[in-house]
Amino acid sequence: MCGIVGYIGYRDAYPILVNGLKRLEYRGYDSAGIALLNKNLDVYKIKGKVNDLEEFVEGKKPVGTIGMGHTRWATHGVPNNINAHPHMSSSKNFALIHNGIIENYASLKKGLLARGYEFHSDTDTEVLVQLIDWIYTQNHVSSEEAVRLALQEVVGAYGIVVLCKNEPRQIIAARKGSPIVIGIGKDEYFVASDATPIIEFTKEVIYLNDDEVAILNDGEIVIKDIYNLGKTPHIETLEMELEALEKGGFEHFMLKEIFEQPRSIMDSIRGRIDPVSGQVKLGGLSQISEQLKNARRLIFIACGTSWHAGLVGEYLLEEFARIPVEVEYASEFRYRKPIIYSDDVVIAISQSGETADTLAAMKLAKESGATVIAICNVVGSSIPRNNDGGVYTHAGPEIGVASTKAFTAQVSVITLMALYIAQLKGSKIGNKREIVEGLMNIPRKVEKILEVNDKIIAIAETFKNATNFLYLGRGYNFPVALEGALKLKEISYIHAEGYPAAEMKHGPIALIDENMPVVFIATKDSTYEKVVSNIQEVVARKGRVIAIVTEGDHQIKDLAEFVIEIPDTADSLVPLLSVIPLQLLSYHIAVMRGCNVDQPRNLAKSVTVE
Ligand code: G6P
Repeated sequence: MCGIVGYIGYRDAYPILVNGLKRLEYRGYDSAGIALLNKNLDVYKIKGKVNDLEEFVEGKKPVGTIGMGHTRWATHGVPNNINAHPHMSSSKNFALIHNGIIENYASLKKGLLARGYEFHSDTDTEVLVQLIDWIYTQNHVSSEEAVRLALQEVVGAYGIVVLCKNEPRQIIAARKGSPIVIGIGKDEYFVASDATPIIEFTKEVIYLNDDEVAILNDGEIVIKDIYNLGKTPHIETLEMELEALEKGGFEHFMLKEIFEQPRSIMDSIRGRIDPVSGQVKLGGLSQISEQLKNARRLIFIACGTSWHAGLVGEYLLEEFARIPVEVEYASEFRYRKPIIYSDDVVIAISQSGETADTLAAMKLAKESGATVIAICNVVGSSIPRNNDGGVYTHAGPEIGVASTKAFTAQVSVITLMALYIAQLKGSKIGNKREIVEGLMNIPRKVEKILEVNDKIIAIAETFKNATNFLYLGRGYNFPVALEGALKLKEISYIHAEGYPAAEMKHGPIALIDENMPVVFIATKDSTYEKVVSNIQEVVARKGRVIAIVTEGDHQIKDLAEFVIEIPDTADSLVPLLSVIPLQLLSYHIAVMRGCNVDQPRNLAKSVTVE
């Protein structure tokens, strides 16, 4: 949540900051602001999007070769001009931008109020900048020392950038819990909450670790911890390409990402499975192969769409590797006093690698002695850095807030993982050849589904004004029903529920009337006939059925108002195909309703607060 960008160098900082904020806007978009350091510390900030900030700044000519920018997702305080970042200290000596939550802000604020500080915003961030100011003034220390001493008093999470008026050629960044990456250019440095604003200038980056502070001066970088212990920076090279961050001719990032799935699925499986022998190789798991082989239980922990991928994983792992699996919401797991055995393997799934609840749940699992691994999309993010092993999905940057290609990449990787663990345990999979070949053919089949986009547009047109939707599926298609419903509500604000089809008669059936669209994911698998009966039950009550069926299905064609055919594949691979039409359906409905598809209200791509 919240995007952070900073620059120090020889170029005009303003365009770098504004373009950086546009790249980061998917992290939060309720207000935006920048600060430039020249002789003065000039702050411009406003409620709204980065475009609103640009309009606001127009004609004001912000100058400076040092500056920082922020795009906010509100935690403390409503989105308005005052609560927007940067926040300035009362003395106007310091400006600060922040991603995260200062948990002990109330007690810090009390102390500062007693010392005569006044507060203008409702944010926890303003408390931190005043605290830095107080330490600076009181103790006559350098700005860098004031920042470090203040951070020693902070409980909570932060990624911050600080500018001090009295240090006209310096920018300070620090991290605990919320990511900060530093780009190393020639005679210039960049700071950001992820690499997206940096990539067009340099590929050399340093990811700050928790409790580290970076002090950037012209041509010099110093990294130390908040207790003043020097650290040796580890420079990494980004593999991301700039094109991956552009819409590439599509109207929205979400649509581009849906259409990228043949490639992102292929990238996530390529080189990891031998098409002839069917042997799976996952380098990031080889060092824990014994723990995987002897695991008492696997526990997936995740949030949102990643949790749905975990549910598919439960079916896959139990079928292939015959190992008990639990799937947990990270936010529930971490506070539930869960029973965790040292021979459990806990698998965190996260696109962003920064989800606060998932990180905390991993920490708990680690402290309980379990082996902890991660499936993650963003290289260098926090989640893959805090575990015993892991596998990256290679979906490429996902910018649309509603996750699409990350989900299918996660399911592809979990499929490989299930095959790998089965291999380690010597479990026999009856139709292994069909699965291996089927997996290699998924990208081609996804391409085929994408060709029916026009048909899905017509269905969207029919149902764009619906107020409710029901999504029903069984077995491997139950998590897909949940994911389809989540996609729709996230971006079109239509209430939608996903349910196991057989559970319909225990509640949702009461909702069915001539106004209720019901999406059935009814592919030809072992429960097909039972799902057909559910469709009949809905039709009998005048519900309007849209069915995702296997190519060539005639039975459902006669029952449903609309059918979308998908190519046949092994049951265990169906989610990789059946989810695609649901992504497209929600996308088109949202566009037709005039919703901001890439930046749906109140949501953020990377949820770094709990
Ligand atoms: C947010 C995003 C979702 C995502 C979830 C988990 O809610 O909007 O798209 O599924 O976080 O994020 P993660 O990065 O951990 O997969």
